[in-house]
Amino acid sequence: METKQLLAVLPVKKIYGTLPTVVTDIAVDSRAVNAGGAFVCIEGYTVDGHQFVGKAIENGARVIVASKPVDVDEERVAVILVPDTSRAIGQLAAKFYQYPAKKMTMIGVTGTNGKTSVSGIIHAILRQSGERSALTGTIGFDLDGTFYETENTTADVLTTQQMIARAVNEDCTTMTMEVSSHGLVEGRLAGTEFDIAVFTNLSHDHLDFHGTMENYGHAKGLLFAQLGQDLSQSKFAVMNADDKWCDHFMHMTAYPILTYGIHSEAMFQASEIELKPDGTSYTLDCPDGIFSVSMDLIGEFSVYNSLAAIAALYAKGMSVETAIGHLEKIPAIKGRMEKIPTVLPITLYVDYAHSPDAIEKAIGAVLPYKKPDQKLIFLIGTGGNRDRKKRPIMAEKASIADYVILTTDDPRDEPYESILSELAAGMKHKAYACIEDRAEAVRHAISIASENDLIIFAGKGHEDFQIIGNVKYPHSDAAIALEEAEKKFGSGLVEKPLNN
Ligand SMILES: Nc1ncnc2c1ncn2[C@@H]1O[C@H](COP(=O)(O)OP(=O)(O)O)[C@@H](O)[C@H]1O
Ligand SMILES: [Mg+2]
Repeated sequence: METKQLLAVLPVKKIYGTLPTVVTDIAVDSRAVNAGGAFVCIEGYTVDGHQFVGKAIENGARVIVASKPVDVDEERVAVILVPDTSRAIGQLAAKFYQYPAKKMTMIGVTGTNGKTSVSGIIHAILRQSGERSALTGTIGFDLDGTFYETENTTADVLTTQQMIARAVNEDCTTMTMEVSSHGLVEGRLAGTEFDIAVFTNLSHDHLDFHGTMENYGHAKGLLFAQLGQDLSQSKFAVMNADDKWCDHFMHMTAYPILTYGIHSEAMFQASEIELKPDGTSYTLDCPDGIFSVSMDLIGEFSVYNSLAAIAALYAKGMSVETAIGHLEKIPAIKGRMEKIPTVLPITLYVDYAHSPDAIEKAIGAVLPYKKPDQKLIFLIGTGGNRDRKKRPIMAEKASIADYVILTTDDPRDEPYESILSELAAGMKHKAYACIEDRAEAVRHAISIASENDLIIFAGKGHEDFQIIGNVKYPHSDAAIALEEAEKKFGSGLVEKPLNN
């Protein structure tokens, strides 16, 4: 792209050195710079990009975008001084990739819990309907069926624009993105113009980052404010009428709002809900009429997630009948109350709950069909060096289960004792065990299970690792549980290999 055209988007304080006529690429990592590229110095939590200008130039950078003066060979390189490089990278990335978000229907999903599930349901339905669709979030970047790993739920602003541009190049017509509150506050969605913004729910999580629930709520609300004010465009907000933050978020956008819910009156209203071990059915009353829905996803929370997905697809122009037809065929979302396929005499679920509300919802998914003679065993851990306030509340919610195993979930470099004692402080009954080693904790769950019992392994979901110190060790709750259960209950009882 022509350098002048690219730089026109920046509030430039000063330029010195020699500007090239074109810029071939943009990078924020000096190792990723290509010949003729621009290097943007970002001041991160641990490193300051300004220290890597020399390395970037060695790798071919011809333009340096910085917020403080840097020494360069002015014959060969230009320095652009701007007030804030973190903002500049958003503007540059969107311009360089020619505003790719404008070329697709962009759906953003935010909330404390359910982002991965709702965006996964939307993406799966779109793909079933034959549309080329892209998805980004906790599980990675799914480019219409081809997977790429990503670092965070919401990637950095440059990677985000690159992924969107890639999806456009691959002829995707919709991209669904999980939008985290961290991503919104840090401006990682600059230039990502959404057409449909979806809110799932808001409850206690990430308060180590946001401080208070109010700040956290405001952070999530940014997604709706960022829909903009151009009412000539067809944009929608999809909101959970049963969540008390719904009213607050409604005021943050002027676009039409589609509500969904179970208890409060909503445009997409579910009733007559039947929760079963292998699936869920309900009646949906919506602008297209009244429908019977039945799906493989389990738990009341999946009713909410499916309603959010159906409303978002309706906003995009898909008929409710079509959306429901596809919903009925999609498998469980990976690691979200996913039943492990076995013919063992016990029922095993893998789940990703790691916030108090999600724990309550995961347990709540099985209570409606749990019989009095069945025991519910719930295994939960929590991450080291992260939000400590939520720990006792997590255990308090876990106490709804008959027997609780408290363990670790990526302890990082925090001692096991503090993690486990802070969790145990919230327990409401004595039927629990604290076991540091997660593999041993999983084996313990099987050892105390009797025939017909139900076990939920929570916190890891789709993840197949455990972070101890700063090393990622392979770990799969499901694999360990199956091995142990086969030993205990007899072999040959696992139907098919796990996808976990
Ligand atoms: N709508 C929901 N409300 C409450 N809990 C939910 C909801 N959807 C999923 N959960 C629970 O939260 C966990 C994480 O779900 P996920 O879709 O990965 O959410 P997120 O991407 O927002 O972290 C699930 O494993 C489940 O236990
Ligand atoms: Mg997620």
